[in-house]
Amino acid sequence: MSSVVLLVAVLFFLLLLRARRRRRECEPPLIQGWIPYIGMGLDFRLDSQAFLKKNQEKYGDVFTVYIAGKYMTFIMNPLLYPSIMKHGRQLDFHEFTDQMAPVAFGYPAVGSGRFPDMGDQIQRSFRLLQGDNLVPLAESMMANLNLVLRQDFLGGEGGATEAVGKGWSTGGLYDFCSSVMFEATFLTLYGMPAPARRHGDMAALRRHFTKFDGMFPLLVGRVPIWLLGRTKAVRETLIRYFLPQRMQRWANTSLFIARRSAVLEQYDALSDTDKAAHHFAMLWASVGNTVPATFWALYYLISQQEALQAVRQELHRVLQLPEAQGPQQSEVMISKEQLDQLFLMDSAVNESLRLSSASMNIRAAQEDFSLRLDERRAVAVRKGDVIALYPQTMHMDPEIFTDPQTYVYDRFIEDGREKTDFFKDGQKLKYYRMPFGSGSSMCPGRFFAVNEIKQFLCLLLLYLDLEMEEGQGTAQLDNSRAGLGILLPAKDLRFRYRIR
Ligand code: HEM
Repeated sequence: MSSVVLLVAVLFFLLLLRARRRRRECEPPLIQGWIPYIGMGLDFRLDSQAFLKKNQEKYGDVFTVYIAGKYMTFIMNPLLYPSIMKHGRQLDFHEFTDQMAPVAFGYPAVGSGRFPDMGDQIQRSFRLLQGDNLVPLAESMMANLNLVLRQDFLGGEGGATEAVGKGWSTGGLYDFCSSVMFEATFLTLYGMPAPARRHGDMAALRRHFTKFDGMFPLLVGRVPIWLLGRTKAVRETLIRYFLPQRMQRWANTSLFIARRSAVLEQYDALSDTDKAAHHFAMLWASVGNTVPATFWALYYLISQQEALQAVRQELHRVLQLPEAQGPQQSEVMISKEQLDQLFLMDSAVNESLRLSSASMNIRAAQEDFSLRLDERRAVAVRKGDVIALYPQTMHMDPEIFTDPQTYVYDRFIEDGREKTDFFKDGQKLKYYRMPFGSGSSMCPGRFFAVNEIKQFLCLLLLYLDLEMEEGQGTAQLDNSRAGLGILLPAKDLRFRYRIR
């Protein structure tokens, strides 16, 4: 019996050896590990940054790693990023989303051939998140932020906070940011349940969303949903929220979501549940990163009162408000034009994004080809392989950002304007801050996202005094979403606030 087991083990080992890739001429160094399918996946997941830095030191700027069934070629030097962007024809972003979306969100792949022109129509709809369309979006977001903040937190009743005397209230900072931004973003994009101004079941929706979001890295890592406890049921509940017959009853829906519904309606091959799943995916895209990004933007400001005061001063100057503004009696409205003048706040938000973002930019090779890196170097890439940029290593590079672990709220400002000169090896970088990805696949919601974070900060700085509670240490990053966007804090921290 034992000799049979041994024989099977030897055969399995030989099969593994056969299945292992051999590095061909001109291909980058190859790191594939010994565990079938998983390859180096565990090492990568444990601490992706450290893993990549270690291999960069050993193998140089470009190397291929076998992770979860994929050969991924990492480009580590940001000076090489522009060359990657130039290979748009051979390197495709949507192949990856087309594989990932059905697994994570449960709708059929857009590029499966069953939905002619749908991908292009969806891409065109992203324009409704940009340019002049940002003006009505900003107005609506402002009204919704005011609504949620004032009713839940400034009226003194309800909400996730406790009164602690002397006018101070206290709460969990992440929970606070999440409850306000989740609902205000939802109302702005999807609309309200006319004639009411707020949906009655937002807290339950957010609770389900948070559960799903916690499992998201595992779904993207191809862990079957049936292995993930109640995740499938939770996802179904979330999807049902967006069934067309429900959404038709909502008023003030943004042009962007209205257009998305109209595009989906054109395809008989989509069931109502598929359409709802598309809308749910957009909810994930629109709040999954924005909520943690808002947390970090606010956390760093509150933790560094000097930064908070400077940003508040700029705000008062732009709004032409007296320095010691008392409690606000009426709703504050800040125009998109005024938001655009808040350069210091922009810098503070960008700095917090630099410190908290860990998105991986992925492109799938459409053919075997030679990837030109610079004038001197090119590497061979095989069809189906993935080219990956991991900008977190750039964001934390001390050569580009002095003292990279430290929050410097005015790091991205120079002479009162945005600073754009950052250098590596003495050369000016074209890409130095990439929380929103790059090139053709860059996040279409980035302008809306930064606006809404700034709007949220504006209202808080005008309405409230804010402090972190003492004795709880500093916020740490939870790495479980590494590669997928903005990292969450490892645990929520308590803060206190009072009306100014
Ligand atoms: C701080 C907040 C946000 C961050 C950090 C963020 C980041 C990203 C990143 C890294 C990507 C992938 C880009 C690539 O791989 O090159 C992406 C894609 C996307 N984001 Fe965002 N995002 C944010 C907010 C938003 C918002 C508010 C919306 C919508 C209102 C949105 C909609 C999308 C969509 C639709 C895509 C997919 C684009 C495509 O398929 O071509 N995002 N985002």
